[in-house]
Amino acid sequence: MLVIPSALRSQGLNKNEFLFYCSAKKSLDSFNHFKSIVEKHLGITLSPQQPLYFYLQNIVHPLWHDMYQYHTPTAWHMVRVGVSAAQCIQFIPQELAAKNPLLLRAILLGGILHDIGKQKVKQRLLDSKRQFRTFEEFKQSGFLEHPEYGQELYRQKCNDSRSNTLSKLIEEAILKHHLHNGYPQQFKDTKISLSTALVSLADIVDAMSNRKASRHEPVEGQTIKEKIIKVLNIEWDKIVTICPEMQSLCKDKFINFLVENHLNRVNLAYAGL
Ligand SMILES: [Fe+2]
Ligand SMILES: [Fe+2]
Repeated sequence: MLVIPSALRSQGLNKNEFLFYCSAKKSLDSFNHFKSIVEKHLGITLSPQQPLYFYLQNIVHPLWHDMYQYHTPTAWHMVRVGVSAAQCIQFIPQELAAKNPLLLRAILLGGILHDIGKQKVKQRLLDSKRQFRTFEEFKQSGFLEHPEYGQELYRQKCNDSRSNTLSKLIEEAILKHHLHNGYPQQFKDTKISLSTALVSLADIVDAMSNRKASRHEPVEGQTIKEKIIKVLNIEWDKIVTICPEMQSLCKDKFINFLVENHLNRVNLAYAGL
């Protein structure tokens, strides 16, 4: 019988996450394994002479690793979001992809870092599978501030690297991946880039297929997949209003692939990511 150690159980680990933890715990926090995930999904081999290698080793991995130490399931969620969103790149029309040469990198790395600001949220609230009783309670939890806090952490780490375009796109994914939900409020009249839009969508799918899906019973006659697709259709419409580039994507095909691909990976306990 599968026994999840209490230290991990208290972090809210489910069976799939625990299986993944067993296969990855020795290597996922090492830079080499982290780099191999990035290489696999960017379709490149990185060498230490490349600026991207430096950036990954000195900025992206340390930031992600801080979350790995603070709350491991959230760090996995971030990797899954980056990977899931990156795998949707095939649905981006060619002309649009040509206009956004950094798209794949921005999606993958922006996704991997999008929730670093959750280090502001108390661990017990990240662990908890319960819902907040009131909006006031939710507001006080620090959840609403995690995009801005994430930006702050990112900026502290980046210093000089912040001015390059890729870095700006990653920062945007951290700061604005919940903008379609209305926060941070002071940016509500601004637009988001395509990479942030895709990270936002993958974020919804991963959150629903893990915590939210286990918290809410599926509506009668509706599978988890159908439920996620229904929610995603609503969120898509909100995201399109702040990211007009999304209009050139085929909504139904995109959503179907994103959800199916993600759920398949969940069923495989994220083997190999
Ligand atoms: Fe978030
Ligand atoms: Fe997230």
